[in-house]
Amino acid sequence: MTKFEAKNIVKNFRHEDYTLRALDGINLKVEAGDFVCLVGPSGCGKSTFLRIAAGLDTPDEGEIKFDGKTITGTGPERILVFQEGALFPWLKVSDNVEFGLKMAGVPKDDRSQISKRFLDMMQLTKFANAYTHQLSTGMKQRVAIARALVMDPDVLLMDEPFAALDALTRDLLLVEMQLIWEKTKKTIIFVTHNVSEAVVLGNKIAIFSNRPSRIKKELIIDYRRPRLVEDENLMKYQKQILAELRPEVKKLDGNKK
Ligand SMILES: Nc1ncnc2c1ncn2[C@@H]1O[C@H](COP(=O)(O)OP(=O)(O)O)[C@@H](O)[C@H]1O
Ligand SMILES: [Mg+2]
Repeated sequence: MTKFEAKNIVKNFRHEDYTLRALDGINLKVEAGDFVCLVGPSGCGKSTFLRIAAGLDTPDEGEIKFDGKTITGTGPERILVFQEGALFPWLKVSDNVEFGLKMAGVPKDDRSQISKRFLDMMQLTKFANAYTHQLSTGMKQRVAIARALVMDPDVLLMDEPFAALDALTRDLLLVEMQLIWEKTKKTIIFVTHNVSEAVVLGNKIAIFSNRPSRIKKELIIDYRRPRLVEDENLMKYQKQILAELRPEVKKLDGNKK
């Protein structure tokens, strides 16, 4: 079943003396249960596209459908996880994770049962009563992911969620994300500029061109899981992606606006 269908998405940003065309006709289909990674040069419009899929922004042309219906706003079935998961510093870890459930009116006992399960999955049980300033960046990001997962969304939209992590923590989370995906069968759209991260996670990679951007290539990665970053068999996919990206990054110099 098709979850997302983006057709000819165009997005312009108007500045005082010029208009910047970020997206120039994005076409993308995401099937239920896909783990799609979006890769592309910095500033090409990956976050813009993800925001449109989340319903936080609207395209100037084209349309994007979710479950067959045109997206007109945000919805609990599509949750966005940012690079720096914005947590509430005045709440304990467990209360941060339970926040959305509380807003949704889920009773306290059920809330704590659900959050326990995801805190455990994210190896945060020991920190349930800590405040966020007591946590490392990696732990904060795990709290942000747990907070999204407890809502049991159909789709996770993740915008470079591991970019600020140290390498070891990221490697652990790369395995964890694959296990979560296999266990929950969620549809995931994951933005990253990190090619090795993309080939570990994605069953499909959509490569964005430089701005004004289009998807210049889609690549299917049919390879056993859980995949590890150091797996040499993944190198050939990385090379393919890098060969597509290199000319795009070179174009950046002549296209500052
Ligand atoms: N709200 C905005 N107003 C003006 N320009 C924007 C806005 N959001 C993004 N842009 C511009 O659009 C381009 C694409 O941005 P973004 O989607 O953040 O790229 P990426 O996530 O691929 O790095 C960038 O040049 C950025 O400066
Ligand atoms: Mg971005």
